[in-house]
Amino acid sequence: MFDSKIYTDRRNRLKKDVGSGLILILGNPEASYNYPANTYHFRQDSSFLYFFGLDSPDLAGVMDVDNDKDYIFGDNVDLDDIIWMGPQPLMSERAAKAGIHFTEPLKSLPKLINEAKARGRKIHFLPPYRGESFISLENLLGIPISEIRNQASEALIKGVIKLRSVKDRHEIAEIEKAVDIAWEMHTTSMRMSYPGRIEREIAGAIEGISLAKGGPVSFPIILSIHGETLHNHHHGNVLKEGRMMVTDAGAETTMHYASDITRTVPVGGKFNQKQKDIYEIVLEANMKTIEATQPGISNQKLHLMAATIITDGLKNLGLMKGNTADAVNEGAHAMFFPHGLGHMMGLDVHDLEGLGENYVGYDDEIKRSTQFGTAFLRLGKKHQPGFVFTIEPGIYFIPALIDKWKGEKKFTNFINYDKVEAYRDFGGIRIEDDILVTDTGYKVLGRPIPKTVAEVEETMADRL
Ligand code: GLY
Ligand code: MN
Ligand code: MN
Repeated sequence: MFDSKIYTDRRNRLKKDVGSGLILILGNPEASYNYPANTYHFRQDSSFLYFFGLDSPDLAGVMDVDNDKDYIFGDNVDLDDIIWMGPQPLMSERAAKAGIHFTEPLKSLPKLINEAKARGRKIHFLPPYRGESFISLENLLGIPISEIRNQASEALIKGVIKLRSVKDRHEIAEIEKAVDIAWEMHTTSMRMSYPGRIEREIAGAIEGISLAKGGPVSFPIILSIHGETLHNHHHGNVLKEGRMMVTDAGAETTMHYASDITRTVPVGGKFNQKQKDIYEIVLEANMKTIEATQPGISNQKLHLMAATIITDGLKNLGLMKGNTADAVNEGAHAMFFPHGLGHMMGLDVHDLEGLGENYVGYDDEIKRSTQFGTAFLRLGKKHQPGFVFTIEPGIYFIPALIDKWKGEKKFTNFINYDKVEAYRDFGGIRIEDDILVTDTGYKVLGRPIPKTVAEVEETMADRL
């Protein structure tokens, strides 16, 4: 945990922002896997971690804004628990580490909520995402499950997003640790990417690095010689010379801060000319948008900058044609780059997305596009110092999408479908880094992970 003052300060700032009422933040319960007692690895809710710090199941945090009093509801362990799980500090001792001096057993929570309800006080809660939390909120608040997400507090959502979006130096240090773990994961993946290996051998090895150095991976590993499938979790292919392999993987630290890095490498360790041509375009889009990052620039603008670089690059190779600005404006590039440039990152790998993507990524000034491709951009708004986000452009040759658009004669003024045919078995390339917005520009977080053609080839030469 961080120092208790950090949690107290975060809660005080949130209470000031929300103004009045009771703020209820549920911690996560255990979640069963294939039978009740066999659970998934426990993961605390990120907002609970941010404001209350305690990393164990079956806790709830309450901030009474009007009376400036914070509580943790949770049970002390009994003898049975001690026999199975070992001794644990008292709840009061644990809560003190988060600067909280009022603890109550979990069964007392309904009383506090009912009293507040009886007085007509507003109870602020966040939109839940786990079935158990929907049920708890229905029981506590008397709101039907189907209504709960609609009745979540907008003031609380906005207050939490405002605070969690701007990372302090302690959080940035944690994220850098997570990227340093990713350095080891990705350089290991590179050094293992030789013909004959099965993808799962590499995926398993790098997941083990995350577990050994920090926490579990920050999301299920994407690792495939079919990188054109954007979130490919199938790890059953045998690596073959001539394919590119995408590894999109990150770690959580023991404090649960994430990294999210993608590298794409030629199986066997040497890029051929065709691979290098496409790779250099993606690399330019990655590096130029990183270099353009500064407070005040919108991420939508960075996204369109990447789309422009990709369109120009594909025009140079003869795969696209026509006026670049028109092509990007109309969305022709999205056949090759059908996703957004990136997203916020922090305690969640797609930070705060559970509170509502448009609250996190957009505002009154910058609205989400409705166009295929750009519409999938999760973060569009202007950057502020302290934001941590990903930059992850890519170029993909997705046969189903090529066939559909070609069949519809879509964008024949911008896409040379005949030339594209020569690439339909190419796969995909994505390059992703984790970026901090500083007062004057940007910082690429963590130990630099090989990414130029020369750096990747040199790393791969040290074969594992
Ligand atoms: N880890 C999936 C992504 O890059 O958004
Ligand atoms: Mn990723
Ligand atoms: Mn990402």
